[in-house]
Amino acid sequence: MGVMRVRDMTGTRVARPADVNDTRGARRRVVNHTRATRTQRLNHTRVGRRGAVNHTAVVRPSRSREGDAPTSPFTPRTNPSRFASVPRAQAPAAHPGELVGRARLLAALLLSGSGDRWQHTRAVARRAREAVPAVTPTGGQRAGEVLVAAAWLHDIGYAAPLVDHGFHPVDGAQHLRATGWPEEVVALVAHHSGARYTAAERGLGHLLDGYDAELGHSTPVAQALVWADQTTGPAGELVGVQERTAEVLRRHGPDSAQARCAAERVPALLRDAAATEARLAAPAAHEGAWYLTA
Ligand SMILES: [Fe+2]
Repeated sequence: MGVMRVRDMTGTRVARPADVNDTRGARRRVVNHTRATRTQRLNHTRVGRRGAVNHTAVVRPSRSREGDAPTSPFTPRTNPSRFASVPRAQAPAAHPGELVGRARLLAALLLSGSGDRWQHTRAVARRAREAVPAVTPTGGQRAGEVLVAAAWLHDIGYAAPLVDHGFHPVDGAQHLRATGWPEEVVALVAHHSGARYTAAERGLGHLLDGYDAELGHSTPVAQALVWADQTTGPAGELVGVQERTAEVLRRHGPDSAQARCAAERVPALLRDAAATEARLAAPAAHEGAWYLTA
C-alpha cells in the first residue's frame, strides 16, 4: 500500500500520519470483527433454536414418564409408568352416549381376548341397559349412561396389565381414576357387587377408603349395577341372584373370602337386586334406553 497524502490547513499536501491509517485499519478490523461476531451470533442462535426445539421434543415424553406434571388431562396422574402400555379410551362424556361408547371401547381393548370374561361383560352391559329405566326417574339420562358405562368397565381389573393389588374392583378403579374417568364410574367399579365385604374379609378394606362409598353402593345406579352383574353368569348366561351367588361360592370354595363373608354379602346383593326390580316395575320407569346404543 502506497503512502497516502492529505492537505494541511495551508493546502500543502503532507504525508498522512501513520496512526490515521492504523485507525482506519483498526476500524475495518472492528467492523469486520463486529460482522463476524454478528454472523457467529446469528448462526449460534439458529443452531441454538434448533437445538432447543429438538431438545424439547425429546425431553417432554421422558418428563411424563418420570412422573412430572401431566402433559394432558388424560395422562395417568399416579404412578404413570404402571399404565404405560395400557390402552386409554377415556374422557368425560360431552354428548349422550359418548361415555358408554368409550367404556365399551376400553373394555373391548382389555377383555375381548378373555373368552368367558368378555361374554360376561357384554351380557352385564346388556342387562344394565335393561335397568336404565330404574335409574333415570331419579338420576336422569346421565345416571343411565353412568350405569351402562360402569357395567362395561366393572371387571377390567382382571386384565393382566391392570393387576396391581390382585383385587379386581380396586385395580380397575385405580386405572380409571388415573386416566381421568368420571368419579361416579370410578366409585361404581371400586364398590361393585359387594366388594367391601370381600375386601374386608381379605384384609384389603383400606384399599376402598379412597373411593366414594355413597356413590359406589348406596344409590339406585349402584343397586342396578348389582342387579345386572348378579343376574349374569360367568359366561354371560342369564341367572337368578341366588343361583349366581351359590355358583360363586362353589367356584371359590368354602374357605374362600367370598364364602366367609357370604352371610353379609348375599343378603345385601339380594336387597339391591330386589330394589332395582321394584323400580323397574314402578310406573315411573317408563323411559327406555333408546339413546344408548352399546
Ligand atoms: Fe362381573
